[in-house]
Amino acid sequence: MGGSRLPRRADGAGGDVLRRTGVHPVIPPDTTADAAGAYAPAALAFEQVTFGYQRIPVLRDVNLRIHAGEFVAIVGPNGSGKSTLVKLGLGLMRPTHGTVRLFGTPVDQVEEWWRVGYVPQRAMADAALPISVEEVVRSGLVARLGLLRRMNRAQRERVEHAIDVMGIAPLRKQAVNRLSGGQQQRVLIARALVTDPELLVLDEPTTGVDTDARRILRESLEHLITHERVAIAYISHEPEGFVGIAHRIVEMRAGRPVERSHADADIVAMAHRIDEGREAEPPPVEGGADEPR
Ligand SMILES: Nc1ncnc2c1ncn2[C@@H]1O[C@H](COP(=O)(O)OP(=O)(O)O)[C@@H](O)[C@H]1O
Ligand SMILES: [Mg+2]
Repeated sequence: MGGSRLPRRADGAGGDVLRRTGVHPVIPPDTTADAAGAYAPAALAFEQVTFGYQRIPVLRDVNLRIHAGEFVAIVGPNGSGKSTLVKLGLGLMRPTHGTVRLFGTPVDQVEEWWRVGYVPQRAMADAALPISVEEVVRSGLVARLGLLRRMNRAQRERVEHAIDVMGIAPLRKQAVNRLSGGQQQRVLIARALVTDPELLVLDEPTTGVDTDARRILRESLEHLITHERVAIAYISHEPEGFVGIAHRIVEMRAGRPVERSHADADIVAMAHRIDEGREAEPPPVEGGADEPR
């Protein structure tokens, strides 16, 4: 397993986004050679991206790439711009300067949104309706259902696969609003997986989640990167969710992602400091000297 993802694609539509958007076959600037020597663009690429809300600068000249099968953990204090970064990555906001690309295509030209799975921060906070786990997972297919609004066999299989991968089969008939925080997060991730995404963006999925659920989540993500070559952008304050499995750890500092190493013990300490709320204020972005790299 773990080779090309395209044959497994449920609807047979994978791989033609570049042809459709006319980018293919020019090799985009952000390319990497995989084991077979073929060139593929990064799943997600930020190129000199600057962004601010109104007049408040948040991100400054950000360059970051996440490739297929790569797990990138994004850490940093509250307010340091982590959620803003991923929202720009998903085209939910436009950068002031610079370019965001998904699979090599500028984000505002992307049409095949099922290639991306997104679990926003505190996504389930308002869950009040007694909808079943199965229904929530299936709702991830809404954009993909045809005129008759019925799942085809491949889509049903994707729902089953997502439920299995996230280990929520025993919960399938239960109402999501009766589940624990950790179970709800797994349901939301399963929903994000039903379109067979090549990029999965998780914004603080372990907040308010118990240790057992964190371990299960971690194992599921490990499966996705190794066996399904999903690219994962994972925002978290909790190091046990990513230390040991993340390929890269970046810390948002003064509006930029700064690469950190696993061996860097203080990354763990830093994350704990954040957890304890001792580092609530972001560092200033504007006016200050450049961060030493
Ligand atoms: N919609 C918004 N309007 C104005 N300012 C915002 C908005 N969203 C976030 N901010 C500000 O932008 C900064 C970065 O926020 P955010 O990306 O949510 O940080 P993080 O996810 O790292 O906690 C913070 O100072 C926050 O107050
Ligand atoms: Mg956030």
